[in-house]
Amino acid sequence: MKFYISTTGIKRLTISNSNSNSTAALKSSPLSSTASLRRISTRSIFPLLLTLSILLPFFFLRFAFLLLESAAACSSSLDCSGWTLFPANHHASSRLSEELSRAIVDSKDSGTVGVEDGVASFNQLVKDMISKRQDMRAFALKTKAMLHTMEQKVKSARNRESVYWYLASHGVPKGLHCLSLKLAEEYAVNAKARARLPQPEYVSRLTDPLFRHVVLLTDNVLAASVVVSSAIRNSVEPHKLVFHIVTDKKTYTPMHAWFATNSVDDSVVVEIKGLHHFEWSEDVNSRVKDMLEIHRLIWKRYYDDFKGANFDFDGEDKRKLDVLSPSSLSLLNHLRIYVPELFPDLNKIVFLDDDVVVQHDLSSLWDINLGGNVFGAVLDSWCGDGCCSGRKYSHYLNFSYPLISSNFDPDRCTWLYGVNVFDLEAWRKTNITSTYHQWLKHNLNSGLALWIPGELAPSLMAFKDHMYPIDPSWHVARLGERPPQIFSKEILEDAAVVHFSGPAKPWLEIGSPEVRNIWNKHVNFSNKFIKRCRIME
Ligand SMILES: *[C@@H]1O[C@H](CO)[C@@H](O)[C@H](O)[C@H]1NC(C)=O
Ligand SMILES: *[C@@H]1O[C@H](CO)[C@@H](O)[C@H](O)[C@H]1NC(C)=O
Ligand SMILES: *[C@@H]1O[C@H](CO)[C@@H](O)[C@H](O)[C@H]1NC(C)=O
Repeated sequence: MKFYISTTGIKRLTISNSNSNSTAALKSSPLSSTASLRRISTRSIFPLLLTLSILLPFFFLRFAFLLLESAAACSSSLDCSGWTLFPANHHASSRLSEELSRAIVDSKDSGTVGVEDGVASFNQLVKDMISKRQDMRAFALKTKAMLHTMEQKVKSARNRESVYWYLASHGVPKGLHCLSLKLAEEYAVNAKARARLPQPEYVSRLTDPLFRHVVLLTDNVLAASVVVSSAIRNSVEPHKLVFHIVTDKKTYTPMHAWFATNSVDDSVVVEIKGLHHFEWSEDVNSRVKDMLEIHRLIWKRYYDDFKGANFDFDGEDKRKLDVLSPSSLSLLNHLRIYVPELFPDLNKIVFLDDDVVVQHDLSSLWDINLGGNVFGAVLDSWCGDGCCSGRKYSHYLNFSYPLISSNFDPDRCTWLYGVNVFDLEAWRKTNITSTYHQWLKHNLNSGLALWIPGELAPSLMAFKDHMYPIDPSWHVARLGERPPQIFSKEILEDAAVVHFSGPAKPWLEIGSPEVRNIWNKHVNFSNKFIKRCRIME
């Protein structure tokens, strides 16, 4: 059996027991090449060898690619075997190919093939065939078993790739880590990086209701810098903005150092607070602790499920991977339900996630009349006269569960977190936060049967009758999803705020290159720390 390989791929494949033909072919080639060699001067041998040494790897790669391409072009490797191995245009082997195809099809009816019927490699298969003189049917069965094994391997590799991709979304990139360390160092050595924020003459603005207060909970310095500078650059009256950035204890010094040394506009007030600066009452403290513990237990349960299960990375399971991300354990992430307690002196805030870019003036968002509701949000994608399927409560909550079906309407539209305006005064008059707690507890006690994995569900429940729908152009989300969502240029440009919701954050390597530029535009690449940490465009 021989493969005849040319630059365009496998030309033909013949199986024969006699060697006469091939020896004849082999004989003829040295003769003609000796004749031509004489004509070639010795001086040209070296360039020839050089050219060959360059071209041969190329041919090999070309061949390898052809094999890969043909394997990728078909849904099941079994369907492909016919044309990959036996191109129909070669007359001599076409009968063989037909016969073999029939045998493969016949072997489909003979039930499943055990893996032990397979052989490790194609070479092994051919050797077996020749030495044991097996019939066509045995050959077909073995080929099938081999392809089956390969298919399993490909599937498992795909699953692993999926997990790796998600793991990549969980880690803190080296550049960001470096930025935090360098800025913390700067805080220690540079008095300017420790300067009071805001400057003493502006402190009164922090609680002044005449200013527009924007709240950000984050431990990502670079992301916070992008949100703040994009909001300032697109603001008509930047000096009316007051940013309140809440971060954790370890990020406090780098965050402070950044904003103390990098102000886009000196008239804009930025306040940085670490969680350790809040002095909550014993009651709030214990409730926050409770909440975190429940989130941890829920996380743990999903994690144990995940370890034990054989995953199929579509739909449900993908969502479980999202739930396992570290952000689902992060206190900052869950603290948004305690915003009224975080800012006891404010009655209204605009709340932004750290993975957004502001593209319009935020003042009209601030000015929206919520009509007595607690908060304004964009409904999650609107299709004609209602919300799109997959964007309703029924998609998030388990309506087979009596407690859910008796409390909620499955057709109610869900909304988006990340760009919201909150009336904290109205919020304080409700029991939204305790309702949230109760649903968390219910879910844990019911064995996580109340909702499909995800962080939005308990908020959907707690805020049920308190949401005021705002114009969809305020918030275009899902720029970080996989596969990347395709947005028209107009939609992206018209959006007041774009949101990289999903695992593919723009600061990660896996971030989608099509939209990363929207974010990169607001990163100060001339900053010395960003340069030193090799955070690149
Ligand atoms: C929240 O308050 C409403 C009325 O103010 C009451 O009907 C409801 O039972 C309360 N829910 C919880 C969980 O306390
Ligand atoms: C939904 O609730 C039903 C009824 O309690 C339960 O049997 C089912 O397992 C739940 N589904 C999920 C996905 O948890
Ligand atoms: C970028 O960083 C440099 C150096 O830190 C600073 O001088 C400059 O003002 C910054 N530019 C913007 C737009 O923030």
